[in-house]
Amino acid sequence: MIVRLLSKFWHLFQRNGGFYLAVTSIALVLAVGIHQLAFSQQPVKIRVLMQALEAAQWQPLVEQFEAQNPDIDLEIVEGPNATNLVEDLYTSSFLLGDSPYDLVYMDIVWTPKFAAAGWLVDLSDRIADAELSAFLNGDVNGGRYSDGLYRIPFRSDAGMLYYRRDLLEAAGFDPPETVEDLTRIATALQESGQVEWGYVWQGKQYEGLAAMFVELLEGFGGFWIDPETKEVGLDRSETIEAVEFLRSTLENGISPPGVTTYQEEEARRFFQNGKAAFMRNWPYVWPLANAEDSPVAGKIAIKPMVHQIGYDSGACQGGWGLGMVKSTRHPEEAWRVIEFITSEASQKQFVLETGYVPSRRSLFNDPDIVAKYSHYPELLAVQESSVLRPPIAQYAQASDILQRYLSAALTDRLTPDRAMQRAAEETRRLLGR
Ligand code: GLC
Repeated sequence: MIVRLLSKFWHLFQRNGGFYLAVTSIALVLAVGIHQLAFSQQPVKIRVLMQALEAAQWQPLVEQFEAQNPDIDLEIVEGPNATNLVEDLYTSSFLLGDSPYDLVYMDIVWTPKFAAAGWLVDLSDRIADAELSAFLNGDVNGGRYSDGLYRIPFRSDAGMLYYRRDLLEAAGFDPPETVEDLTRIATALQESGQVEWGYVWQGKQYEGLAAMFVELLEGFGGFWIDPETKEVGLDRSETIEAVEFLRSTLENGISPPGVTTYQEEEARRFFQNGKAAFMRNWPYVWPLANAEDSPVAGKIAIKPMVHQIGYDSGACQGGWGLGMVKSTRHPEEAWRVIEFITSEASQKQFVLETGYVPSRRSLFNDPDIVAKYSHYPELLAVQESSVLRPPIAQYAQASDILQRYLSAALTDRLTPDRAMQRAAEETRRLLGR
């Protein structure tokens, strides 16, 4: 096209001798052409923010995606390693307007807030129900809000109990079912000097505390907030008993005092170094704790969380997926990223590399995955019976209230009773009840 334009101007020049006019025009056309050429070769940038820890794990997928899609530059921005801190960064970018992000890599609990605020694109028209049925129900439902679908699941998650199979077997204990079993076995193993500490969990004031608590609460027969009626169950006796159990682990010396400052990684390192008999954590720990350099490799097992006598285990439904930012100027390219990342092939590769849990049901029985992680078929059952944190638009504030008062009870600033009464009152005010 540029060549044709140039020859046209050359004829113009020859015919009317408008030397200056022609030279200026040629220069202009050349400049525009070069700029256009350079611009059309520039890939479209699609930006997404995530915890730094996971950003590194995404790299192989990012490289493959870019190799297959040279017109897209997928830029992963590294954020802090706590879900609520990343959520705050996204939130302020949306509130300030002109967010730099095209996609949101979303924790399952962010959906109602982000969707209700109008920050996300409804993706219902982009994906057929038949395609969605290949994903775990809990993960798909965690992406719905009102009548829309705002998040396509990438990896699922569910909380569970890890234990030292070797120590329990040697001492003749069956794995614990109830909180009493756990306390009894932990104390016995500590007293006989088999292990320094009994039980580690996430006790820091952050989202992980709420996630850990929701599954314990289920195991005590209680509830936090009923998403339909907005009834609040925090000051009921079941909730207070669950808090008392957590406090008792500190008072009995089963849990180290530092546990009230632990996130997932602190708990993992503690358990992985052989310093505790039991740990509450997510599935990502399994391959790390079983790696060659891990002191507990081959000595551990997992099971559903302990519960109170007469109730069932609860597993907190966690998990991450991709949503599309309403203000993106590149929805088509952003959608291609979502399709690629959440595809069966990408999930399989990611799971094999990292030990995270897929959100596609078929992968739990995939021969390559089962060959590497033999417990995945059982994990499917845990995943499918997991409990959601209340899917309400005010979730972030409700979680903040629970975290504050739970932390006050765990660090002895308030009694469990008083703390949960106040948490319940504040939550009711938040929900206008
Ligand atoms: C995991 C879960 C997520 C949860 C977080 C809490 O990342 O997948 O849902 O909110 O842990 O720390």
